[in-house]
Amino acid sequence: KPSHVVLSPNLTTCHPSYTEQHKHVKCCPPKRLSEEPIIDFQFPDPSAQPIRVRRPAHVMSQDIDFVAKYNKAIAIMKSLPYDDPRNFMRQANIHCTFCTGAYNQQHFNTLMSVHMSWIFFPWHRMMIYFHERILGDLIGDDTFALPFWNWDSPVGMHVPDMFLNGSLSDKQRDGSHLPPQVVDSNYQGKERGLASKEQKAYNVGLMYTQMISAAKKPELFMGCPFKAGKDGYCKSPGTLENAPHNTLHYWMGSSLRHEREDMGSLYSAARDPIFYSHHSNIDRLWEVWRKLLNSKNIDPEDPDWLDTEFFFHNEKSQLVRVKIRDALDITKLRYTFEEVVNPWSHINA
Ligand code: C2O
Repeated sequence: KPSHVVLSPNLTTCHPSYTEQHKHVKCCPPKRLSEEPIIDFQFPDPSAQPIRVRRPAHVMSQDIDFVAKYNKAIAIMKSLPYDDPRNFMRQANIHCTFCTGAYNQQHFNTLMSVHMSWIFFPWHRMMIYFHERILGDLIGDDTFALPFWNWDSPVGMHVPDMFLNGSLSDKQRDGSHLPPQVVDSNYQGKERGLASKEQKAYNVGLMYTQMISAAKKPELFMGCPFKAGKDGYCKSPGTLENAPHNTLHYWMGSSLRHEREDMGSLYSAARDPIFYSHHSNIDRLWEVWRKLLNSKNIDPEDPDWLDTEFFFHNEKSQLVRVKIRDALDITKLRYTFEEVVNPWSHINA
């Protein structure tokens, strides 16, 4: 055992796992990842890689060229063989393996899990980072950027149009929650029955709580400090992960399915293309949170967090080892978010 034990999945251990409702699922890659060579993550070369600008999905839905491009990229991804780690179902199953506990930790028999703790933000950042880079590569466009579902702002509080058709659509959704239905950011399985205007005001108020009034310390916003080994295990989500993140997953999934698949359950959530846009907004809000309170919101400095590592395939199908410390500077990752108004940030305490 190394002296400083990092939280890391043991890639030889992928095994069938269980969903939240105790359903048995098999989402391991066809070939053990431990049989593949591993390279360490490297930042893209800034002279070769332009900055990718992520824009609001409801705005981009009006951009026919963009929608066509995104559809094409997802269609190609879906057509790749399952053996190819860039295949869409393989992408979705990364989420399934890391989120249902299909891997044990390196050096421990404890399961690896990336929800309900401070692993949540960086792990999902890197998952969609590679997804975005693969999509761009498949259509030969290195400016391709994942749109963000701007559900924290009244202008974006519905399913963005682009996700209603073509390869960006998904049948496993709650039919009563499609446009013009306004999202319920605190959905618990029961319709709130508010008029659109009241629901929007409610959502904005919730955002104020989750981003500001209840998130004044990193541990509140980020979630508990999950570390390596049995003693390091913890399960307590940060404010934003809890809601609207979890609640919108649940709101989006199909009411006809036992676990509200696709979006409503961890094993199936990333099978819906809207997942990546949902997480693009989560990723943006992490950036926004850091700039609140005169930028006094800072990320943890604990080396246990910074050295936690994950594995993803890049656009060249190489297996890459990424550490959380690689995930903290989006300029180095060569993307940014278009500035939008965050209406919840103007509410006075
Ligand atoms: Cu891994 Cu939105 O969940």
